[in-house]
Amino acid sequence: MKKNKQLKVSIVMGSQTDYRTMKQVEKVLKKIGVSYETRIISAHRTPNRMYDFASNAEKNGVGVIIAGAGGSAHLPGMISALASVPVLGVPIESKKLKGLDSLLSIAQMPKGIPVGTLAIGEDGAINAALLAASIIANNNTSVKKKLKRWRSNQTKSVRKKPK
Ligand code: RP5
Repeated sequence: MKKNKQLKVSIVMGSQTDYRTMKQVEKVLKKIGVSYETRIISAHRTPNRMYDFASNAEKNGVGVIIAGAGGSAHLPGMISALASVPVLGVPIESKKLKGLDSLLSIAQMPKGIPVGTLAIGEDGAINAALLAASIIANNNTSVKKKLKRWRSNQTKSVRKKPK
């Protein structure tokens, strides 16, 4: 196993169309100095790609997987079934049900195979990145420092009074 300090975050999504949302994950991880890689992996369109990725994730130095999916959204759960690293699911806003389908599908994993579920859409993508960074930060002092700075800047940016 690689030392935790070198662990990266893997960002995966079911379709190119999910990248509109999932690029928010990249933006936050970049700011906090967390290494990441990004891939398109569909549980139903590219099942072999999903299997190869998930079953080799730990060996390839992946510390956290963030999986975005829309509709029946089985990608995060399937990856969690195959990989032994924490999996965070981002429900993508779908056209017909506005992401409620994605949210329920990702959140309602039966016991035994966990997926940490975030909010629908960009808020969920941003929080998934922050949560992944805080997991990596447990064993990475540079990421911990940058994460604290990010939060402190956020606090400072809130005005005391509206203008
Ligand atoms: C899911 O189906 C993807 O995660 C995406 O959110 C949704 C629609 O995919 P496209 O038809 O836009 O490729 O697999």
